[in-house]
Amino acid sequence: MEGKVAIVTGGAGGIGRATALAFAEAGARVVVADLNEVGCEATVRMIREAGGEAVHSGTDVSSASDVEALVATAVRTFGRLDYAFNNAAIVGDTGADTAECTQANWDRVVAVNFTGVFLCLKYEIPAMLESGSGAIVNTSSSVGLMGDRGYIPYVATKHGVIGLTRAAALEYAERGIRINAVCPGVTRTEMVEGIIGGDPEIEAMLTAREPIGRMGRPEEIAASVVWLCSDAASFVIGHAMSVDGGQVVAP
Ligand code: NAI
Repeated sequence: MEGKVAIVTGGAGGIGRATALAFAEAGARVVVADLNEVGCEATVRMIREAGGEAVHSGTDVSSASDVEALVATAVRTFGRLDYAFNNAAIVGDTGADTAECTQANWDRVVAVNFTGVFLCLKYEIPAMLESGSGAIVNTSSSVGLMGDRGYIPYVATKHGVIGLTRAAALEYAERGIRINAVCPGVTRTEMVEGIIGGDPEIEAMLTAREPIGRMGRPEEIAASVVWLCSDAASFVIGHAMSVDGGQVVAP
């Protein structure tokens, strides 16, 4: 990935940070984007300390003007855009079934997880066409492939991300841009620590969902994202790839 340029949203921690580091290790220059600017700066520092090149961008992916500015930052700073990992998301409120889910919660999760990925595609694709080719990975989830209870906006938007991925992948397949999705299983990050909330019973329940017998590591998701963007995946288009310790194939 020498000479190439990648955008990573949700890069302030967790899966996004691990993927930003993995892109840099593969030789790409990285624009690390997140609402959390302090976390972004820390990721950029980690990349530079490892000998890579990166800049940060304070970005709210639910804002069209922010996403437009993010892509402009990549092109202005590094001259091109080759890869994007559209990964920022929120869980929203949990523990409320559909009839109890507030519209405010629904609207907030849809704005970040669904509209956010659409806006990223909308502004990244023209920059990639300009560069001649590109590869995009959107973060869905194991619950983008199956149902789950108590957080319908999250489950529905993660299904939606697969729809965005397949539709956009078809449109740009002939124009040199490959678009895929990654569907992580339970991965130990701040998002999951937040759901666990220090309760060992919840931790055990989440671990029990994983046939492999443990949670995933952010680096394990990052490796699959970098592979999907690499030339090794040159015939892979519109795929929703499970990286989930066997979660979705469990009975
Ligand atoms: P995380 O909470 O550590 O990272 C998400 C990042 O997105 C945070 O840094 C947050 O500040 C950022 N963010 C939130 N709203 C934003 C906005 N409006 N604009 C820009 N940035 C925003 O979570 P994690 O676990 O690293 O999640 C990364 C992705 O993986 C998410 O799409 C999540 O839904 C997905 N995922 C995570 C799983 C897990 O078990 N950790 C399982 C399946 C999917």
